Amino acid sequence: MSPVTIDELRDRKRRGPKLAMLTAYDHPIAKLVDAAGVDLVLVGDSLGMVVLGYDTTAPVTMDEMIHHTKAARRGVVRALLIGDMPLAALQAPPEEAVVHAKRFTEEAGCNGVKVEWRPGIEETVRGIVRAGIPVMGHVGLTPQTAAGEGGFGMRGTTAESAARILEQARSLEDAGCWSIVLECVPDALAAEISRRLAIPTIGIGSGPHCDGQVVVTYDLIGLFDRFTPKFIKRYANVGIAIREATAAYVSDVRSGIFPGPAQTVTMAAEELAKFKAKLAA
Ligand code: KIV
Repeated sequence: MSPVTIDELRDRKRRGPKLAMLTAYDHPIAKLVDAAGVDLVLVGDSLGMVVLGYDTTAPVTMDEMIHHTKAARRGVVRALLIGDMPLAALQAPPEEAVVHAKRFTEEAGCNGVKVEWRPGIEETVRGIVRAGIPVMGHVGLTPQTAAGEGGFGMRGTTAESAARILEQARSLEDAGCWSIVLECVPDALAAEISRRLAIPTIGIGSGPHCDGQVVVTYDLIGLFDRFTPKFIKRYANVGIAIREATAAYVSDVRSGIFPGPAQTVTMAAEELAKFKAKLAA
């Protein structure tokens, strides 16, 4: 199958099928989700909470993002690879943010970056787009700043906040975003934004009317157990499988069952006899 292109994904807004995006932060998961047919692989800054053990995504650094994105890059051959600009990069002045965005494409081999909405971010988006880097926007629940905005709940549930989010989405489209993530907004708002914007919308916890969907892979496969968002459909229980496999390994090591004959290399009888003779000499 030929590599996914942005033009093709833009076109799918009109003709379908919907876009499927998943996160990956390392080589094996990136390789698996790419081979399974996702259209986009996002190296999300959810990395901070999911694999680095931070309480929020706010402390994630550019160096951490680049390190993990390079590993994911080596596993993705078909999907578009998107690097998530961490808070530190988006708090920087626009010219500096462009330098950070270039690290994702030039150093880590991404096909584009994702940018969470914050006041004034449009100038940064315009700068990144001018540098030739495709930008995916992100509105609704924006985890980087969620702590100061009442936590990780739904956004856009009142008429006023819904209108505000629609406006933010429009301003990101005007600034040059080629697509936009809608996180945790009610389905009617997601439908309205998807209808009014020419660019594809990719929902997370925002109902079925978006042009595509994204979730954190570790939620999908049951490998992140600190909390499970209400909108998650669990497709596998890899965490339980790892725990059971580990318990069986520990038990086998303690009882001497592992390693058995199948996992053991024996020396040829003749060589063993020579070796023993050497020791005895
Ligand atoms: O960081 C992330 O993984 C994200 C997605 C959940 C959209 O922003």
